[in-house]
Amino acid sequence: MDIRDSVIKFKKYAHNFDFANKDIERKYFHSFRVKSFSEQIAKKLYLDNEKIKLSSFIGLFHDIGRFEQLKQFSTFNDYYSFDHGNFGAEYLKENLRFLVDTDEFDDIIIQSVKNHNKFRIASGLNDDELFYSKLVRDADKLDILFESTSIFWEGKEDIINNSSILDYSYDCIKNHSLVEYKKGMKLENLDSIIKVLAFVFDFNYTPSFQILKNNDYINKILGRYRFNDATTKKRICEIQDIINSFIDSKLEQ
Ligand SMILES: [Fe+2]
Repeated sequence: MDIRDSVIKFKKYAHNFDFANKDIERKYFHSFRVKSFSEQIAKKLYLDNEKIKLSSFIGLFHDIGRFEQLKQFSTFNDYYSFDHGNFGAEYLKENLRFLVDTDEFDDIIIQSVKNHNKFRIASGLNDDELFYSKLVRDADKLDILFESTSIFWEGKEDIINNSSILDYSYDCIKNHSLVEYKKGMKLENLDSIIKVLAFVFDFNYTPSFQILKNNDYINKILGRYRFNDATTKKRICEIQDIINSFIDSKLEQ
């Protein structure tokens, strides 16, 4: 696999879209950071060179469906457009031979891209498909946590400072589970941040916890805010402790 050639082709594809649109630009740089996180995880797992390159490729192309999604629907909301993981997988089914010179990894790439954005990975995947699906999910979540340290909620700090947390979100953190909001739930502004913090409970690999801890994303995300409500303040302290202890426990194993 020639990853430098893949990067050139990715750049060429992405530049068909409107870079004056900040959301396109953000997805472009997100893709490169997820490539880098995938590579870091793969190296820390001592994968061989070919597998490191495959991990990088999947990381770079995981959100390939985002560009058409934004162009066609002006939203990244899958609910109001299409499932961007499925769309990306279909795009790659059609175009993989142009991007990769061997068909050896086709199913792994397609399944990983398809499953990267699902609440849970589909059943029925083989060991390799499952391995790389888990890897790109970790890498993607790491970058969403990074983006939450500065890019997301920029200029909305005051709104967040005056926000509170749903009991439901708070309970999810206490139960070490992902936060899945159901239709009709009335969310507070802070709940979207809690949902991102809860990503740590879905990490698959120890290196992902190492990268998270080394970059101190959890404390950086929460360090941006000064919550006004006393209950919220107390809950956030607890949440911060629960998550940091969870990360430490994973690193001790
Ligand atoms: Fe995605």
